[in-house]
Amino acid sequence: MASSCSGMGFEFLTKKPYTPPSWASHLHPLPSNVFSLAHLPTPIHRWNLPNLPPNTELWIKRDDLSGMQLSGNKVRKLEFLMADAVAQGADSIITIGGIQSNHCRATAVAAKYLNLDCFLILRTSNLLVNQDPGLTGNLLVDRLAGAHVHLISKEEYSKIGSVTLTTVLKEKLIKEGRRPYVIPVGGSNSLGTWGYVEAVREIEQQIQRGADNIKFDDIVVACGSGGTIAGLSLGSSLSTLKANVHAFSVCDDPDYFHNFAQGLLDGLNAGVNSRDIVHIQNAKGLGYAMNTSEELNFVKDVAAATGVILDPVYSGKAAYAMLKDILENPKKWEGRKVLFIHTGGLLGLYDKVDQLASVVGNWQRMDVNESVPRQDGIGKMF
Ligand SMILES: Cc1ncc(COP(=O)(O)O)c(C=O)c1O
Repeated sequence: MASSCSGMGFEFLTKKPYTPPSWASHLHPLPSNVFSLAHLPTPIHRWNLPNLPPNTELWIKRDDLSGMQLSGNKVRKLEFLMADAVAQGADSIITIGGIQSNHCRATAVAAKYLNLDCFLILRTSNLLVNQDPGLTGNLLVDRLAGAHVHLISKEEYSKIGSVTLTTVLKEKLIKEGRRPYVIPVGGSNSLGTWGYVEAVREIEQQIQRGADNIKFDDIVVACGSGGTIAGLSLGSSLSTLKANVHAFSVCDDPDYFHNFAQGLLDGLNAGVNSRDIVHIQNAKGLGYAMNTSEELNFVKDVAAATGVILDPVYSGKAAYAMLKDILENPKKWEGRKVLFIHTGGLLGLYDKVDQLASVVGNWQRMDVNESVPRQDGIGKMF
């Protein structure tokens, strides 16, 4: 029985019973409820990047269009995690991530839709940890949505770890009489993994409904905390999709992510080896959330050529590394139908404006003679 949640009372804020795809019904535990927080299905369209080998068809699934404040891949996980939080009677959510975390921003907004308080632990540099973090990009949304922002330095984060940090805050809030629900980094636990198992069902249905009758050979996606690749690769291997999943990691290294994804898969009793279902390559470059000018130029060139705005931290790095791999190993990609998942992160681009200023150009003072006669009937605007 669907139960209505306090908040705005629209259909998408209604917790509904969840029925998994038939090919996933053996997984355990199965989620019992889900919120419809995202705008789904997200579109799939052709993506004509330059320099593709002959016969390679590139398509893109626009999970960057899964919402506005909730946009990106995180909302798919939050649909399950928030339903669990509400089912458990939580009055607040705690989560953790980098200072420009897309996941934390989406959680801050989802929490408010559901009338929950949100506590964010955000990692920043030692130099900035004791000062106002500002209002750039995701932080502006976090703070507008009234999230309680707790800053932690990178050094403290790596010494203490995200699990302990969230536990410390949870215990403090419980002592204050609150009922907090903790969502791990990136929403990546076994329950959150359902978000991308379900996304595979969505892709299957889009293929069935589409006129192209396309069969994707490969799926390419960025990997930052590991939940998206666990769900996608599990879903792809169990469903009719059977596409090879290629992940490009933007932090840590492929071995770490294989082990992490294995934990998520084991948590679902999936009985599969992550190394058999997902191929992970390193796309970290200079480091997490750090960009070379080549990467930023690539983001700019892709935007100018195709209108698709990639984020610099995740999909920008993944697409850059994918194209590099395509150019270096054209035989591997020739004749293949590839689906790139754009996982969002547009707001993170605002944190890069200084670096981007040198790669975007194209402005000039308009050359107009003031004596040109004005046409009547159009407002003066001031
Ligand atoms: C925009 C964006 N894309 C991709 C990812 C990576 O997804 P995951 O954390 O599930 O690996 C993240 C978060 O880490 C993200 O914010």
